[in-house]
Amino acid sequence: MELGLKNKRVLVVGASKGIGRATALAFASENCHVVAVARSAELLTSLKEEGERKGAASFSYEVADIMECDPKAFAEELISKYGEFEIVIQNVGGSLVSRNHLADSTDWSYALRFNALASIDMNSVFLPRMIEKGWGRVIHISSASAQTLRGNPLYASSKAFLNAYVTTVGRQLASKGVLLTSVMPGAVAFEGSYWDNFTVTDPKRCEDYLSHHQAIGRFGTCEEIADVVLFMASEKSSFMPAACVAVDGASM
Ligand SMILES: NC(=O)c1ccc[n+]([C@@H]2O[C@H](COP(=O)([O-])OP(=O)(O)OC[C@H]3O[C@@H](n4cnc5c(N)ncnc54)[C@H](OP(=O)(O)O)[C@@H]3O)[C@@H](O)[C@H]2O)c1
Repeated sequence: MELGLKNKRVLVVGASKGIGRATALAFASENCHVVAVARSAELLTSLKEEGERKGAASFSYEVADIMECDPKAFAEELISKYGEFEIVIQNVGGSLVSRNHLADSTDWSYALRFNALASIDMNSVFLPRMIEKGWGRVIHISSASAQTLRGNPLYASSKAFLNAYVTTVGRQLASKGVLLTSVMPGAVAFEGSYWDNFTVTDPKRCEDYLSHHQAIGRFGTCEEIADVVLFMASEKSSFMPAACVAVDGASM
């Protein structure tokens, strides 16, 4: 399928590893102009080399910690350096936040900011420009936990909030040519990931988890998520505004 992504200007926030890395490389293979953001300069350097080998129209990176900077000012800086983005992938987030469901709002705020609010701040800079142009795609990497509400309460609640943001704000943008959507992965394993380590440290629990919670009976791959992100970023997703798309091996 021709996705028509060639030469699109794409920002991937949280691009150095895992799903974000596979996504940045998938856009590189579609000959896009890719800007990748993460904290690890070393991983971003190797990502840039790989992205250029795969055919990126251009591949740049910025080392930044979106939890330590002002996300709005950072988004403005990115635009002044690289020009406006047509596609933004918001991938930063994760379950490695406090697991203390009795914690006060300090922990809850952190989990929310990590999984949603820092990227919403960046969107407040990107989205008005996309609306003005009449075309844009902002895709958040959410989680199957947003719907199952299982596992770490702070994580699941933050991703559920993220999906609510995507659905409600996405509807406001639906008629403007700008698609705000999310992709909800199930458990995805890659070298060095939480699930990858789990298969080594506790293979029995890992098998139990898969047989009870992921009907397909295996972990997903980063590429299986990235392929759906590519589709959502393309014109082919034009009838899917505000969608939260499950890519989760039938999570249950
Ligand atoms: N893997 C799964 O099973 C799974 C399942 C459902 C949903 N998800 C969601 O998918 C997304 C990616 O997950 P993953 O497993 O691929 O995660 P990961 O290995 O933790 O990767 C996260 C990416 O974001 C970057 N990052 C983290 N904190 C950052 C910060 N403060 N500022 C800038 N960049 C930052 C990391 O790079 P640096 O460390 O170099 O900064 C890395 O490139 C997350 O939102 C997660 O909740 C994952």
